Amino acid sequence: MIQKEQVRQKGFIDRAIPNVDIISEIGRMKKEKNAVILGHYYIDSRLQDIADFVGDSLALAQQAAKTDAEIILFLGVHFMAETAKILSPQKKVLLPDFNAGCSLADSAPADEFEKFVAAHPDHLVISYVNTTAAVKALTDIVCTSSNAVQIVESLPKYQKIIFGPDRNLGRYIQSLTGRDMLIWNGACHVHQQFDVNEIVRLKLEYPQAKVLAHPECNQTVLILSDYIGATSGILKYSIQDSAKQYIVATESGILHQMKKASPDKIFIPAPPEKINDVSCACNDCIYMKLNTIEKVYNTLKYEYPEVELDESLRLKAFRSINKMLEISAKLGL
Ligand code: 13P
Ligand code: SF4
Repeated sequence: MIQKEQVRQKGFIDRAIPNVDIISEIGRMKKEKNAVILGHYYIDSRLQDIADFVGDSLALAQQAAKTDAEIILFLGVHFMAETAKILSPQKKVLLPDFNAGCSLADSAPADEFEKFVAAHPDHLVISYVNTTAAVKALTDIVCTSSNAVQIVESLPKYQKIIFGPDRNLGRYIQSLTGRDMLIWNGACHVHQQFDVNEIVRLKLEYPQAKVLAHPECNQTVLILSDYIGATSGILKYSIQDSAKQYIVATESGILHQMKKASPDKIFIPAPPEKINDVSCACNDCIYMKLNTIEKVYNTLKYEYPEVELDESLRLKAFRSINKMLEISAKLGL
């Protein structure tokens, strides 16, 4: 059996796997080790197809809290795997590549966020799940994009709120609820770059198409959208709605489930902003796409790399995530 130190060396986790049917080997190891694979809608389509459960960040947290598997192999980004570990400390939580971070989580360093919170002691702190455990430990209630509005509305009207780290989601919630909110100035590099002019150009090309957007997009994009919601909401809307064409302003991975559910419909990824007339085609989240089938195989085989957390930090972060899960369960979300 290979030792952890050897795995750590020279990108062992990423190495090619000769003469092995990777998919069936992953299936065999999953059974043998009582492991479950949880995947976010933004990962590569091939990985979505081998996951036991694919969902948005709320559904993934709910799955992580209730699974009876001994190992959770998380196909997403670091804050998602960390959330799974916070909720299920007795389980081994594996994340194939620890470089799978999140630009939005990075936009709220815990030490700066702590000062901001300390400067406004009369505010209740709501943080998006796209944050580190250290920020969650400074938070009263965590939320995701599929329950943020309901969580804010569950609070008394007079309650002042700090919302972080996504400024676009924060402004969007504020516009719907009219609440007194101080909003942290963070953003996601993928959603931030969808360009309203490019979407208008596409609308002229496909006049019947509806625009579906994630609330992390800029306000100008949200204003011209027919539907705004979390990844799960976007998928559900595209299934239930009668239109045949959609312009999708979120990470491109979600298109896989949309096409699978509605093969007769046309889904057009919203183009990012053009620089010098060239589009960067960066509606892929570079972090999500660090997950590969080879890494999944090696991670499951060597049970490495594993998410580890200081217990006192875990307990502090647990409170705010658990509060979100309690409110969501009460509201049937
Ligand atoms: P969801 O909560 O919609 O799954 O979104 C997560 C995310 O990272 C958005 O960029
Ligand atoms: Fe983070 Fe943006 Fe990637 Fe979502 S799409 S994981 S918010 S960097």
